[in-house]
Amino acid sequence: MKVTVVGAGAVGASCAEYIAIKDFASEVVVLDIKEGYAEGKAMDLMQTASLNGFDTKITGSTNDYAKTADSHIAVITSGIPRKPGMTREELIGINAGIVKTVSRNLIEHSPNVIIIVVSNPMDTMTYLVHKTTGLPKNRIIGMGGALDSARFKYRLAEAMEAPISDIDGMVIGGHSDTGMVPLTSHATRNSIRVSEFLSEDRLQQVADDTKVGGATLTKLLGTSAWYAPGAAVSSMVQAIACDQRKMFPCSTMLEGEYGLNDICIGVPVILGKNGIERIVEIPLSDAEKNKMKESAEGVTKTNGLLDF
Ligand code: LAC
Repeated sequence: MKVTVVGAGAVGASCAEYIAIKDFASEVVVLDIKEGYAEGKAMDLMQTASLNGFDTKITGSTNDYAKTADSHIAVITSGIPRKPGMTREELIGINAGIVKTVSRNLIEHSPNVIIIVVSNPMDTMTYLVHKTTGLPKNRIIGMGGALDSARFKYRLAEAMEAPISDIDGMVIGGHSDTGMVPLTSHATRNSIRVSEFLSEDRLQQVADDTKVGGATLTKLLGTSAWYAPGAAVSSMVQAIACDQRKMFPCSTMLEGEYGLNDICIGVPVILGKNGIERIVEIPLSDAEKNKMKESAEGVTKTNGLLDF
């Protein structure tokens, strides 16, 4: 199982590291346009192999896509990250061109590849990959919900002073500060609804903190986060590589599901060897349906800025 990670910046390097540490892939190729940078990251990571106990081979490439040939899965992290005060949507101008070129290069060398899109604005970049590559929809997956759900669980555990392993919950909708829909009514602690433990106000605070999870970190770090994004991607890659059929909220092309069409937005899906094995439609409350509709309107507006 060969995995390519395009972009050796903080997010890309973190993806490669977590994938390697989990030791399920035979090879991870890290590619970057900056001369020697991916090779350096790959070498540094390989020198952790004996310490961290993995056999995954990590190689670097300066923009030579021939080295990515026959990848099963490719992760696109390329483009610029946001700076404090910026929204993800503001990155569209630069990132759209990069993502288009990267996805074309990937497919040329790996016609059967499954693509995971991380570059922001992620839902729109996922839509762009659909429109410009024509790959079947099960093979284009946007990473947002897996990360946002991890941030939601972190905030729920914090509010309840509970261990995170007690918590289950999902965030659907667009991967943006205003578009995320944390499913507070479905979240549980050991199968008990979290509303049994937290007041409505506290739950609202958890949802609000979750939605600005990325922005909070960008303010603290001066750039966008990388550990949790890398871990979220590695879990999705593992689910596909090992045909785990795990459920994650991912950005996927909708054709009527959740009442939406011709849009990529976060909904629960099953990830297995074919990428998206199926979309899971769960019952939403009227309030959640409205939030999802508003979220979709926001993503559609950003999609309108694309220039194919
Ligand atoms: C974040 C970036 C990956 O939310 O969008 O940290």
